[in-house]
Amino acid sequence: MISGKNIHKAYGTVQVLKGVNIELTRGAVVSIVGPSGSGKSTLLHILGTLDKPDTGSVVMNDTPVNALTGKQLAAFRNKHIGFVFQFHHLLPEFSALENVCIPAWLSGRRKKETARKARELLTILGVDHRLDNKPNELSGGEQQRVAVARALINQPDIIFADEPTGNLDTTNARELHRLFFDLRDRFQQTFLIVTHNEELAQLSDRTLHMKDGLIV
Ligand SMILES: Nc1ncnc2c1ncn2[C@@H]1O[C@H](COP(=O)(O)OP(=O)(O)OP(=O)(O)O)[C@@H](O)[C@H]1O
Ligand SMILES: [Mg+2]
Repeated sequence: MISGKNIHKAYGTVQVLKGVNIELTRGAVVSIVGPSGSGKSTLLHILGTLDKPDTGSVVMNDTPVNALTGKQLAAFRNKHIGFVFQFHHLLPEFSALENVCIPAWLSGRRKKETARKARELLTILGVDHRLDNKPNELSGGEQQRVAVARALINQPDIIFADEPTGNLDTTNARELHRLFFDLRDRFQQTFLIVTHNEELAQLSDRTLHMKDGLIV
């Protein structure tokens, strides 16, 4: 599904990734754990095509993503990749429902069908009572769940998540984990999740440990 080879990344003189190799098979739920500053988010950004490695390659669905240019890359991302980040970047002037719909509108899907699917996702995530509210009218956990629905709306092949349950209480975190595994079972979606949640790490098919810019 995705393969990263010999990925190096430096910020100034600081070598953050020191030759990371990673392979994910379709339908795997893999978590990444490791101390703060070890390079987890940097790796996720590079695998998710949001940032470029200094050296090394990323191949997704047989496409060498390093070779794609601006527009191609944006289209590829929209179709194949979903992101859930610590800071969810919901668009403040749009409602919860609209925020979830936006990636589907961008890929040219029908409005009615998109709204139906967005409602379904928000219901599964337990925020269906907040469809018409703007992000600043939602709690942190609600905003995060809206961001999760937005990441899932285009049924991406792979979902990159950075501390997706960081703002959630135990019950909601458990629900979200259950949803991830359910989506994997139903649609063979692949998940790479940075997490400090031990329960999730244990449930995962594999746990990768990062330390000082390497998977150890
Ligand atoms: N844009 C940047 N410019 C300079 N240094 C950066 C930049 N992004 C990250 N770093 C540095 O790279 C190192 C790895 O950062 P990264 O965000 O990947 O860590 P992390 O493992 O995700 O940590 P955390 O668990 O705290 O989120 C850190 O020392 C960080 O300060
Ligand atoms: Mg991080």
